[in-house]
Amino acid sequence: MQRFAFQLTALALGAAGLVACSLPQGSADETPSTASIREELKASFQPKGQATLDRLDQSPLQAACSAYAMNPNDSDLRKQLDALMVEQMNTVQYPADGHYLGDWKKGEKIAQTGKGKQFSDDPEKPSGGNCYACHQLSPKEIAYGNIGPSLLHYGKLRNYSPEAMKVAWAQIYNSKAFHACSTMPRFGEQGILTQAQIKDVMALLFDPKSPVNQ
Ligand code: HEC
Repeated sequence: MQRFAFQLTALALGAAGLVACSLPQGSADETPSTASIREELKASFQPKGQATLDRLDQSPLQAACSAYAMNPNDSDLRKQLDALMVEQMNTVQYPADGHYLGDWKKGEKIAQTGKGKQFSDDPEKPSGGNCYACHQLSPKEIAYGNIGPSLLHYGKLRNYSPEAMKVAWAQIYNSKAFHACSTMPRFGEQGILTQAQIKDVMALLFDPKSPVNQ
């Protein structure tokens, strides 16, 4: 028992030592400033290909979300986030021709593909949506994540209504227009998917022939 306690202490000291070593200028009992943590973080990344260091800069919305995660009862922050969500909604561009649906077969490929935006990816090639990483879609695909809700029977459950299509389009285009601190990528707003690609994933959700609706 004593030996166990000793080992735990040693472990705790070891861990503290490690933290102290990695803290930018300062001793273990000195809390590092946010700015110094940012600097340290930036210094530990190397820009490579399209993955440049500006990716570490937070937008005002991301900064507000980080602050809100630490202070979830701060009503001023909540108001700030609500205002920022309106801004996000204003970024949504609906399809110029008024047609929301493309080809669900292409949409399935986009949903399956996690390529794009990484340093090793060719920026000239189209990116994927990686939807299955977070959502269930076609029942034929059994490997899917559950960070997001299941999208099985998505269109069918909404009677394929044009209103539901409009909302889903906006949600895919810019998820932060609906949930300020959403973890879902802003596919349209960040230029990850083109309008044509968004139409294809929309068809995966809303085409009655799509496996999602079987
Ligand atoms: C990193 C995880 C992640 C990825 C990747 C992702 N989503 Fe999401 N998605 C979420 C989460 C989480 C939600 C729940 C709402 C929120 O937090 O924004 C969501 C919500 C949605 C909704 C709204 C569901 C509802 O309640 O009506 C749709 C539609 C959607 N996602 C479609 C997609 C499509 C299509 C793709 C791929 C192009 C995709 N998502 C990729 C995480 C993700």
